[in-house]
Amino acid sequence: MLSKNILNALNNQIVKEGDAAQIYLAMASWAEKEGYDGIAEWFYAQHLEEIEHMLKIIKYVNERGEHGIVPKIEQPPSDFKSVYSLF
Ligand SMILES: [Fe+2]
Repeated sequence: MLSKNILNALNNQIVKEGDAAQIYLAMASWAEKEGYDGIAEWFYAQHLEEIEHMLKIIKYVNERGEHGIVPKIEQPPSDFKSVYSLF
């Protein structure tokens, strides 16, 4: 069992990890479209890392007998000014 505060904090962090994954994915897709293949690969890798963080927290919460909530997918920005602006 987890306290309500800790459970809420962990479920809020799951949302943040999911949002970060989405933003990195959008940046990867934009960079790939612009022909920056190496940069795109780097952002795709960051996307997967954030997904992994989200999974770890969901599993941790569930292992503690609680319920890790899968958040809704929010659409991230799809257009970026420059490679510089990504970083
Ligand atoms: Fe993360």
